[in-house]
Amino acid sequence: MKTLSLVIDPKIKPIFLRIASAIRQAIKSGQLKANESLPSARKLAEQLSTNRHTNMAAYQELIAQGWVESFERKGYRVASCLPVESSLNLSLAKKDAPQKFQWQINAKVPVVVPTKLAHEYKYNFTGGIPDISVFPFKEFKSYLADSLSRPDLQDLSYGNIEGNNNFIQQVKVYLRRIRSITNKEIIAVNGSQEALYIISQLLLKPGDKVLVESLGYKPAWNAFKSTGATLIGIKQHQKGIDVEHLIQLIKTQKIRLIYLTPLHQYPTTVTLPINERIAIYALAAKHNIVIVEDDYDHEFHYDSQPLAPMAADDPLGLVIYLSTFSKIMFPGCRIGFIAVDKSLAPSIINYRSIMNHKPNVLMQDAIARWMQDGAFERHLRKMTKLYQQRRDYLLVLLNKYKDQGIALDYYLPAGGMALWLDVKNEAHKLECYCKEHDVFVLAESHFHLELSNDQDRFIRLGFASMDNEKVRDGLKIMFKYLSEKTPLNS
Ligand SMILES: Cc1ncc(COP(=O)(O)O)c(C=O)c1O
Repeated sequence: MKTLSLVIDPKIKPIFLRIASAIRQAIKSGQLKANESLPSARKLAEQLSTNRHTNMAAYQELIAQGWVESFERKGYRVASCLPVESSLNLSLAKKDAPQKFQWQINAKVPVVVPTKLAHEYKYNFTGGIPDISVFPFKEFKSYLADSLSRPDLQDLSYGNIEGNNNFIQQVKVYLRRIRSITNKEIIAVNGSQEALYIISQLLLKPGDKVLVESLGYKPAWNAFKSTGATLIGIKQHQKGIDVEHLIQLIKTQKIRLIYLTPLHQYPTTVTLPINERIAIYALAAKHNIVIVEDDYDHEFHYDSQPLAPMAADDPLGLVIYLSTFSKIMFPGCRIGFIAVDKSLAPSIINYRSIMNHKPNVLMQDAIARWMQDGAFERHLRKMTKLYQQRRDYLLVLLNKYKDQGIALDYYLPAGGMALWLDVKNEAHKLECYCKEHDVFVLAESHFHLELSNDQDRFIRLGFASMDNEKVRDGLKIMFKYLSEKTPLNS
């Protein structure tokens, strides 16, 4: 039996793994061939000045990995079929050079063109982004630490799939107190997008018709479209959706679901008046249509208390209400919830278990402790005040530019985190100019269901995530372009 020339790496610990690694290398390098006999543990001990038992442990490790086989009374041999060689043989057996595996994708996946991300721009006017830099991380850390030091062991295991009990309880109390929603089951989700996907899968089938705001939220549309449903746009005017058009659509076509953002219409932030909500609800009830109400930034309403959601007055249980912590905290927390009629809740919970055993209960538990303590509502009051100040500062700047003769207009949003600004024309060119100058802003073309409706006039200006100085400097760049387009004092 030949004496092995083993390359020992002293960094590998413990010793038996060091020896196993050296023998494996000897096999891989071809020094040892398949089926070749290996020195006994005792022989190896003489050669390496190691303990016989250590060498036996090394051989056991190699046997477990498939590199070595042991035979009674014959000792150890290199395995006849080596782990690496078996897969190599597979490809080498083919005459042709091995091809990269070709994936067959069945699902329709929205095409995302990788470009520079919004937050990589110096000035980021994306609408709907909270100012994460002022989130009270230190305060929140103490609630997270509390969740970890007094963990609910049952909850952290499998089971209890609707979400953390305490979180659900806190959300229930909060919804009753602040949003007047009662009589609904709460289900915790990993953000509203998960909710939109589950609802789509449960309620829609190919060919079903879904009414959406013709200027709207594409991620929701993508979830609906993934089921083969057809989307129909409800026309919009300056004051929100055109309810007459919606009524017309419902009366003339079989509609399965209506998706709305009534409190702060996305992307225009206009609030749907109460009488129009009532009219839509009555019609949906008459025609057996589900309403999905997406209330993504409820708290940030400035000129009055936020209106109660449609889900607050839903005696028939046809409104599915969605909300998120992405704006209250930060999008990366991935926490949201669905409030639905009791009859639908089990299907939603059970469907979710196909994609995920349960949502992130640790984060929910920390949020529940934060809510219970009252610190959550203090944070909301502080952020609402801050965003109101930022909105008002933006208005001061815009009015100043307007006074200088630059053609612009806006519909004052009573709430939300963005402003829908009418720059009269060339919105798309303005977007391109801004991006070239490190300013991120989106023109209306990004929000249309049908691009043929693009008037190339509006941009969405988010005002929540940047401080006043940054907003001022970013606008300066934007308005340099606009002032060149509109001669001053013309
Ligand atoms: C209309 C709308 N719905 C929902 C969300 C939040 O989604 P998520 O909870 O998945 O972060 C957003 C965020 O931009 C939104 O604009």
